[in-house]
Amino acid sequence: MDLRKKFIVLANWKMHKTIRQSINYVKALSKGCQHLDNTIEIILCIPFTALVVVSKEVRISMISIGAQNVHEQIQGAYTGEISSLMLADAGSKYCLVGHSERRHYFSETDALVNQKGRVLHKVGVTPIVCIGETLNEKGKGLTFNKLERQVIKCFDGFSFEEMTKTVILYEPIWAIGTGKAEKPQQIQETHGFIRQMLEKIYSKETALKTRIIYGGSVKFDNVAAIIEGKDIDGVGIGSASLDVHNFLRIAQCCSLTISNRKKSNTILIVRGRQTKQ
Ligand code: PGA
Repeated sequence: MDLRKKFIVLANWKMHKTIRQSINYVKALSKGCQHLDNTIEIILCIPFTALVVVSKEVRISMISIGAQNVHEQIQGAYTGEISSLMLADAGSKYCLVGHSERRHYFSETDALVNQKGRVLHKVGVTPIVCIGETLNEKGKGLTFNKLERQVIKCFDGFSFEEMTKTVILYEPIWAIGTGKAEKPQQIQETHGFIRQMLEKIYSKETALKTRIIYGGSVKFDNVAAIIEGKDIDGVGIGSASLDVHNFLRIAQCCSLTISNRKKSNTILIVRGRQTKQ
């Protein structure tokens, strides 16, 4: 975890919560997150119907609002769809793209994910691009091959600046909603691999600046261990984010880890200076 970047604690509500429930959630969250470390950024990826009201309800800069999907065209005759322009207009700073549920139930491909990412960047909404392997691919030792393909295809044509602004959400498909998260050491190794790829395709600076976060059965019991790795820039939480108190406990745990890390960094810097003198 690089302390110069904001550390993401993301909630993906999926197809849950009415407008009233969303407002109550955000009110409780705003109260609860006042004492969190200022390096934390909370992103709520919520249903389209709640975007406008919830964005207005949020008065704390630590909380950002995101959508869960977007159409790949900026406007046009696409009955029933929502464009990136509309999302920006409704207060979204972020938007999930290529979540495994969308890939599975709505046949979204890496090429489509790429188009959606581009159309979001055009209007200044940050794409949070989901990638990850199936259990079968993991079993065959093909995780890195899959991720390599996804990184190449999903970010094809992204400029250095667009890549730096993009968030990568690594979610092993088999870990989503199953209660079985990937092992912390494996998560770090995989994030390290993704970062190396960014360095090869873009530059060291781009690779360092791009935030790579982990999702898949993250909960209070396992979050501290998951975020230990140096390449973990945040966490994405589905089921455990639906209850605001549960989500807050996870955010508080991340905040504590970060402030401890800051303190030990300061001690190291001071010690370094003392040794030099
Ligand atoms: P989960 O979902 O935390 O319930 O596994 C994560 C996600 O789908 O983003």
